[in-house]
Amino acid sequence: MKILVTGGAGFIGSHTVIKLIESGHDVTIVDNLCNANPKVLDRIQQLTGVAPDFARVDIRDREGLTAVCEQAAAESGPFDACIHFAGLKAVGESVAKPWEYYDNNIAGTLTLLDVLRTHGCKSIIFSSSATVYGDPEIIPITEECPKGHCTNPYGQTKSMLEEIMMDMQKADPEWNVVLLRYFNPIGAHPSGLIGEDPNGIPNNLMPYITQVAVGKLKELGVFGDDYNTPDGTGVRDYIHVEDLAEGHVKAIQAIEAGCGLAIYNLGTGTGYSVLDVVKAFEKATGVKIPYSIKPRRAGDIAACYSDPAKAKRELGWKARFGIEDMCRDAWNWQSKNPNGYGE
Ligand code: NAD
Ligand code: WQD
Repeated sequence: MKILVTGGAGFIGSHTVIKLIESGHDVTIVDNLCNANPKVLDRIQQLTGVAPDFARVDIRDREGLTAVCEQAAAESGPFDACIHFAGLKAVGESVAKPWEYYDNNIAGTLTLLDVLRTHGCKSIIFSSSATVYGDPEIIPITEECPKGHCTNPYGQTKSMLEEIMMDMQKADPEWNVVLLRYFNPIGAHPSGLIGEDPNGIPNNLMPYITQVAVGKLKELGVFGDDYNTPDGTGVRDYIHVEDLAEGHVKAIQAIEAGCGLAIYNLGTGTGYSVLDVVKAFEKATGVKIPYSIKPRRAGDIAACYSDPAKAKRELGWKARFGIEDMCRDAWNWQSKNPNGYGE
């Protein structure tokens, strides 16, 4: 298939682009590089032997997107599908800069959807998030679990965009819309050539741990040990980014089969506490992670993990990697690239 990948230079996008190329797809990346380094494109080429088409375009830029679609059409016909990763994703920043998040994520996606449909592409896979469940009513979380209240603008954009795409698909059943609700993606490509490269001090647990391990940060702060969980720390469903990338290849197959609207959780189905992750990291890498208990972080919930049975049943997808694999590969990336893609 001929696939447009927005945000394909980012963490999850770059891993997915590699799997798509390895599966024989023809990929064009659109990314404004607001949270990515162009070096990732060389690494993708190094790993696959293919230099994907790349356009530095903002998804809010209608003319830029139109030019990408027109060029693709002139060369070999319209895109068959779009995988839409592009977006801003920092929860705390979204509270401080709501307009920027609604503009980038909502306005950007509306422009993208319109340019796609006017250029003969009505199939999209969207990066949604377990955050749409809010504080979940059912654990493990199935796709039938009602969506919950999102405590931050970032989460609101994911929830609203799901609704927008569902309404469009209902009005025009030619659309195939696959909403993938990711749980907590971590890890890196086993080569250590691509991985997660957050700006500044990481907000998320695994990059924080790897930066403590590499000596850039002194100790991990554990946000709360008084939750209603086995050891009192927050429980999440961490998923290897390689498994997540594979999930997109399977979702493309669903689109090829004309799936209409489909919603899937992408998680392992197993929850690990913050202290479980620290222990798994130490076991997988031999590196000790000093930590201290801090107050709860605003907006956090006690536990969030998936029931991934629907993706297995309908897509034939199941996560293959465990928590120690995720820790090993995250550490392999961080230790080989202490400053990420920077010098
Ligand atoms: P990322 O920041 O590494 O990747 C997003 C990419 O989109 C970046 O390369 C960035 O430069 C690009 N981008 C942002 N705004 C853009 C715009 N207006 N135009 C063009 N490009 C733009 O993030 P990621 O972790 O790879 O996440 C990918 C997607 O998955 C995001 O939509 C994110 O919200 C979603 N998601 C991520 C997680 C997670 O924990 N990482 C969990 C659930 C969902
Ligand atoms: C995991 C656990 C923290 C950092 C976020 C977004 C979610 C999704 C994935 C995009 C929690 C604890 C963390 C630290 C800690 N992103 N923690 N010390 O909050 O589950 O999900 O990323 O869609 O929308 O909210 O992930 O990695 O930040 O936290 O103790 O320095 O680790 O309290 O229990 P979270 P996380």
